[in-house]
Amino acid sequence: MSDLLSVQRISAAYGKVVAIRDVSLSLREGEVVAILGANGAGKTTLLNAISGVVPITDGDIRYGGASIRNRKPWALCRSGIVHVPEGREIFPALSVEANLKIVDARGGGPEFGLDDIFQMFPRLLERREQHAGSLSGGEQQMLAIGRGLMTCPRVILFDEPSLGLSPFFVKFVLGAIGGLKRKGIASLLVEQNMRAALRIADRAYVMRTGQVVRSGTAAEIGAAPDIQEAYLGA
Ligand SMILES: Nc1ncnc2c1ncn2[C@@H]1O[C@H](COP(=O)(O)OP(=O)(O)OP(=O)(O)O)[C@@H](O)[C@H]1O
Ligand SMILES: [Mg+2]
Repeated sequence: MSDLLSVQRISAAYGKVVAIRDVSLSLREGEVVAILGANGAGKTTLLNAISGVVPITDGDIRYGGASIRNRKPWALCRSGIVHVPEGREIFPALSVEANLKIVDARGGGPEFGLDDIFQMFPRLLERREQHAGSLSGGEQQMLAIGRGLMTCPRVILFDEPSLGLSPFFVKFVLGAIGGLKRKGIASLLVEQNMRAALRIADRAYVMRTGQVVRSGTAAEIGAAPDIQEAYLGA
């Protein structure tokens, strides 16, 4: 199958600090691809570059065969690329339901309605009237994912969805992300939790100091004995 998203030798910098350099990756329809790497490796910058939050200085990003280089985040969201950021960025003063309804559902991917989200995350149904700011960390993560899905994406960029969650929630949230494959949605999954990510990923890229240093199938990366120590600082 041809690539839905193709990142071709991109670089991005904050002023003089080059945060990612010469990074290439591909993502096919319905694939879960993990991006692994220690703190500061450039994972968030890579997602920000793809979603148009940070401009790229070199290279190209192609989506459905056309260049999306330096397109704006809202335009990308309308064409089906949604970013579920690290800080989750829900609206704390709005209810769970309002947070889900506020999005622009024009991504062109499989459609999700409120009922679909509540079926996926029953906890959100129980809390639909509650202010989002009063949800637990795990519940806020579910809400952020639910909101991302309401845009009807074809590609979702997840930044450390397991961060700060208990083992139960890690399993639940990553299980839900893995389930999106069946709808044909493609996910780029940034994680430091290598084992948990590789359980649902098809392939993985390992980053270090702004560059991709390893890539392969989830089985290959999982079986490489040195990866955890060399690149993930464990
Ligand atoms: N807004 C910024 N201004 C200047 N430098 C930045 C900025 N954001 C990130 N950087 C730098 O870019 C590099 C990559 O950071 P990035 O946040 O992409 O890493 P990361 O892999 O997501 O790390 P973490 O696992 O800690 O989230 C780091 O050296 C970081 O200090
Ligand atoms: Mg990060």
